[in-house]
Formats: sequence, C-alpha cells, structure tokens
Amino acid sequence: MMVDKANLYKATARSSGDNDERALLVVRDLRKYFGDPDRGSPVIAIDSVNFEVKRGDFLTLLGPSGCGKSTTLQCIAGLQHPSSGQIDMDGEIVFSDQQGITVPANKRKLGMVFQSYAIWPHMTVFDNVAFPLVHGSARVPSAEVKRRVMEALELVELDHLALRYSPHLSGGQQQRVALARALVHQPKLLLLDEPLSNLDVQLRDTMRVEIRQLVKQLGITTVFVTHDQAEAMSMSDEIVLMQSGRIMQKGTPRQIFLCPKSRFAADFMGRSNLIPAALNHDGTIADTPFGQLRCNPDHKLAPNSRALLVIRPQAIVVPDPEVDAVSPNTLLGEIRTLSFLGETVEIDLGINGHCLKVMADPYLSLSAGQVIRVVLPPERCLVVPDPDASDRTQAAVGLIGNGATASRNGAAVRETR
Ligand SMILES: Nc1ncnc2c1ncn2[C@@H]1O[C@H](COP(=O)(O)OP(=O)(O)OP(=O)(O)O)[C@@H](O)[C@H]1O
Ligand SMILES: [Mg+2]
Repeated sequence: MMVDKANLYKATARSSGDNDERALLVVRDLRKYFGDPDRGSPVIAIDSVNFEVKRGDFLTLLGPSGCGKSTTLQCIAGLQHPSSGQIDMDGEIVFSDQQGITVPANKRKLGMVFQSYAIWPHMTVFDNVAFPLVHGSARVPSAEVKRRVMEALELVELDHLALRYSPHLSGGQQQRVALARALVHQPKLLLLDEPLSNLDVQLRDTMRVEIRQLVKQLGITTVFVTHDQAEAMSMSDEIVLMQSGRIMQKGTPRQIFLCPKSRFAADFMGRSNLIPAALNHDGTIADTPFGQLRCNPDHKLAPNSRALLVIRPQAIVVPDPEVDAVSPNTLLGEIRTLSFLGETVEIDLGINGHCLKVMADPYLSLSAGQVIRVVLPPERCLVVPDPDASDRTQAAVGLIGNGATASRNGAAVRETR
C-alpha cells in the first residue's frame, strides 16, 4: 500500500498552519482570455471562476473537453497568466491583477502532475524525482536530497526502482514517478491534471483509491482535474462542475449527482429522464406528457413556467404488484424493452406514447410486453430550467446522458455524447 509511510512523511510535511480554518486556496473571479481581443474575438477559456478549497480537502474540477479545467489549474500553478481575478494560497495573494501581484510558479508552494507526466526519459527514477530539489528555487544539500527522494519513492512504492531509467517503466510506474516528484517538495497544495487517463481501467481504479488515501493521510490539499464523472465522484470531497469556462454547480458528489441544478448537470453526471413540464401556480405540480406529476418544490423557477422534470432511472420505484397502496406519481406503463445487466434491469417503459427509462431490481420477474406500475417519488422529481422551452414545438420526452436517448412515438432524439 502506498500509504504505509505516509504518517512519517506527514510529520515533516505539514506546517504550523495546520489548524488554520481559512481555505488553503481561494480563487476569485478568475478570467483567462487567449488571443488578442483587438484582432477578432478572443477565446474565453475561463470566465468568472470562483471557488475555495479547505485545508486538507480533495476538490475536483470536472467537465467536458475544452471547458477550462487545465487553464484553471495552470493559472493556480502560475503556468498561465490570468487575464483578471485573484488567487490566494495559504493566506498569501499569489495573483491579483488589481494589485499587480504575480508570484512566479517556482515560488508557489505546490506540486503538480501533468496528464503527460512530463518525466525526463534520459534520467533515472531517482534523478527525475530529485529534479525539483537539485534544480528548483529551493535547492537542498545533497544528503538531504537523497533522504527526501527515497522517502517520496517509498510513499509511491518505487524505492526498489530508483536507479532504473524512466522509459523502462510501465505507465502506472511512470505515473507514480510523477506523483513522487510532485510530493518531494512536501507541498501544501497538489495539482493533478488528469493523471490517470493514460492508465488501463483496472490500474486506474486502483490508483484512484491509492491517490486519495495518500493525499488524505499526508493532509495535502488537492485540486484534481478530470472529465470522468465516476472518477470525480469516487475521489472528491467536493466537485466543481464546469461548462464553457463557467462553473455550473459546486457541491459534494452526492449533492451534484442527486440534485443536479441544470439539464447540463443532470446529463453530465449520468443518465436522467428529462420530462418537459409546465408548472402550476405554486410550482409543486407539473403537467407533463405522462400526466400531472408532483415535483420536488425546492426550486427557484417561477410558478406557471416551462421547465424540465429530471428523474434518474434508478430513482424510479417498481412497487410490489401485490401491494394495493397507491402512492402519488404512480404510472402504468408497458415494458417495451428490457435488458438484464446483472446489477440492474434496464427497462424502456412506454407510457402515453412516450418512453420512461427505469432501472429495476434484477430479482423482480419482469418481461417485455408486461404492464407494470411505477412510482416517481415526488422528492426525486427535480425541477430545472428548460433551456429549449421557447423553441420546443412538441412535447417530447428524452433520456439523456452517456449518449443514450430514447426515440419512440414522437419522443425526442438527442445524442448528447
Ligand atoms: N494557448 C491557447 N490558445 C488559445 N486557446 C486556448 C489555449 N489553451 C487553451 N485554449 C482554449 O481554451 C479552452 C479551455 O481549454 P482547457 O485546456 O482549459 O480545457 P480542458 O477543460 O482542460 O479540456 P481537456 O479535457 O480537453 O483537457 C478551450 O477552448 C481551448 O481551446
Ligand atoms: Mg485539460
């Protein structure tokens, strides 16, 4: 296990500021434009990004390709010069356009792992990890270099390969070299840009757990970047969900998955039934192609407005047919198709000519053509704004997320990924 040596390391790595309640990293109104605005329109890579990371927390920037994750991370690292905004690190301003402050990258107390690892092929594992101590701004005496490098290599269980040249390492081992190099400085902040994307699926799963355990044991505040929602959910204390350079939602993995606040969040964090809806006068009941449905009243949309009801296939309950009690939002539908996936049964349920995606208990005995009752618990029917409300010409129900969208009898077709 990589974490066995972590306590020893932690004793030296952490500073007297450990009990400080202030956030270790504060990003305020950060913007980054590329290109010359006077010659055509600039690329707005990030636009008014705000977030904080508490000391010792693991925060993930999550979003599709091109949404500004790496640019944000590079601005924090000092590798990109933001167009405007402010970045505070451990109580010190490291960037402020208003105050004219830019602390250079090598003076910020952080470690970074790049997607490509960026380790030198002509150097041994030891020399790669030693590089920041030998060539960086905070050089240390050679006896100290040896101790620190071996300590960092032990953390990632590569001490036995210290003298091997880096091209003769597996992908996972190279990833560990990059991690050891980022940790050798005993940074307060660790920045990881898609460090697992070059690894095979099995190794990625192992490294997810190991990296989280390691940084937690070391008490290092971490900002992680990924476009993989499962990776983000399994590793993070908090997720910042981004789209087109802006933050769409912040919250714990549970909050973001269970309570998406937009169609984008519902889509990006897994599959959802998206049901066009017209809210009633107090915003608690919605007219939908499935009939009137009670919805979760915790939303900010105006009464009588057009909206989308979001309900995840796994949030829909298939009650015992023997039980008579009728709950609110009970619907009858015919099973059009049924896929037995082991952990769940995926059902396309036809209701009023529209399709509702349901994930059911695999132990239920269900078959195609059967008419079943399903319950959409009102608290799980979330109301989000419908960005297409004005140009929608017909009521249509779509299932979005992970590239699947149902299309039957007038239902919408949307391939989102
Ligand atoms: N040097 C540059 N010059 C011009 N545009 C750039 C530059 N670097 C990034 N961009 C643009 O800024 C936007 C954000 O890029 P960024 O690399 O931050 O995205 P990302 O979320 O990390 O994407 P990915 O998941 O593909 O790595 C993109 O539209 C990108 O094309
Ligand atoms: Mg990137």
